Amino acid sequence: MQNAMNSEFQVITGCSSGIGRATAFALAKSGHRVVAAGRDMAAMRQLSEEARVMRLPGDIEVRSLDVTSRASVDQFTEGLARDGVQVTTLVNNAGVSMTRMDRTRDGFERTWAVNVRGPYMLTATLARAGLLANGAMVMNLASKFHAKSLSREIALGTAGFSTKQSYLQSKLCVLLLTHGMAQELADVSSIRVNAVHPGIVKSRLGNDSWFARAVGRTVGLLLPPAAEGARRVLQAIDLARSGALSGAYIEDGARGNVAYQGDFEADAHWLCTLLATQIVNPQRVASHGQSGASAVTASLS
Ligand SMILES: NC(=O)c1ccc[n+]([C@@H]2O[C@H](COP(=O)([O-])OP(=O)(O)OC[C@H]3O[C@@H](n4cnc5c(N)ncnc54)[C@H](OP(=O)(O)O)[C@@H]3O)[C@@H](O)[C@H]2O)c1
Repeated sequence: MQNAMNSEFQVITGCSSGIGRATAFALAKSGHRVVAAGRDMAAMRQLSEEARVMRLPGDIEVRSLDVTSRASVDQFTEGLARDGVQVTTLVNNAGVSMTRMDRTRDGFERTWAVNVRGPYMLTATLARAGLLANGAMVMNLASKFHAKSLSREIALGTAGFSTKQSYLQSKLCVLLLTHGMAQELADVSSIRVNAVHPGIVKSRLGNDSWFARAVGRTVGLLLPPAAEGARRVLQAIDLARSGALSGAYIEDGARGNVAYQGDFEADAHWLCTLLATQIVNPQRVASHGQSGASAVTASLS
């Protein structure tokens, strides 16, 4: 895969369907080199083949990645490092909206593991490996429908599971971690971290049971295609680049407001501490006695 002339890639997670798939395709269409990452290799190979058959100016390289798995994130990172990849844009798109309680192999509630822990773990691991180019853009997939105040127990899945609240809390956490990581990564190598609401579009989101799939198919008839979500993601990346934004939440092509009932700064601090200490590098962070967003830096040093 390595190309001495151009080792710069745009990495997108969750590319087997929906907005991730459409974003990979749109980027290849405009001439970019894309790493499409995800769990379903067959679906992603088909995407790559479509891009090749259509002779798109860019190309799509597929790579296996389960964002809930430490081992998978490490293998993915090692593979990129081996191939000399520099990531100029990272789209943390992979997401779930569960209709029932499910846990990952590591015991985390799945909504938390995919939507919150996943983007943090991947971003921090890539940054730590020096694979995020200087000035790289990280775009996290948020939602307009996020909780307005934080319930730590629901977010973490320690207070049971709620189809609606678990998702809303996870998307609030995406905004909080965007804020925390933006501060820390700016200090490391001018990496910008932002979040975008992609609009409400047709996808497989929430289709984790036959009933949900049936409802999703019916509702989907009324919604715009996933390509519209991809358009908004790319629009947000352009806006963030041209305005040198970091820590911003972007909605409808403009900087959006987060109407938060709580102490946003303190909650971002709590979340980044939790993610850094419990997930990324507990020993190092503990030995630094770090707390808050600065824990991110400690985990990267
Ligand atoms: N659709 C909307 O209206 C809407 C609105 C607001 C925000 N969003 C956000 O947009 C993002 C994309 O969602 P979508 O609507 O395009 O839904 P989607 O079609 O269900 O796509 C989600 C993608 O995430 C992947 N994924 C799930 N678990 C994963 C894991 N552990 N590791 C790696 N990939 C994993 C899925 O792949 P598998 O095939 O492996 O399951 C799938 O490719 C999500 O973050 C979602 O919350 C969507």
